[in-house]
Amino acid sequence: MEGFSGKGKISVLMVCLGNICRSPTAHAVMEKYIENKGLSQLIYVDSAGSGAWHTGEPPDSRAIAKARKRGYQLETYRARQVNAADFQNFSFILAMDEENQRDLLKQSPESQKEKISLLLDHSSSGLSAVPDPYYSGEKGFDLVLDLIEEACAELLETLSSKIQAHPKRS
Ligand code: 4NP
Repeated sequence: MEGFSGKGKISVLMVCLGNICRSPTAHAVMEKYIENKGLSQLIYVDSAGSGAWHTGEPPDSRAIAKARKRGYQLETYRARQVNAADFQNFSFILAMDEENQRDLLKQSPESQKEKISLLLDHSSSGLSAVPDPYYSGEKGFDLVLDLIEEACAELLETLSSKIQAHPKRS
């Protein structure tokens, strides 16, 4: 397992069920937005699944193909399960849906629970969940990208403001 590379940075962990569809998509979108803003030295992003079924696997081929069309690269990612250290390491732990959020809250030490929220809590979409696309058709994967792009853009605005307000802490 890879170590944590976000020490000293604001760090964001994207979490879904399998870590092969939604959270790797959110990982790649957020990473690209961070790079585009020149903030890679200050913000770190990773993804994981609440379940272990797909550990070690690349993302779902449908997620890879849809993301590639919009300029995101997912194919080098490998699925991993959320672990105890994640709750200590990450500044923000963002669940794709309420089930993922409940699983995270069950696992988290009490002192780290405030780090856990829904990704779409950071978006003005009015929705709460990025729907699981695994058993959906093509359209499910397009919707995942639409919701994630909107939320990551807004999340990055929030994080950029935090960095500007507290430049020495980051
Ligand atoms: P994800 O999608 O949580 O967005 O990665 C899923 C991937 C696999 C399964 C369910 C959802 N599965 O049941 O194997």
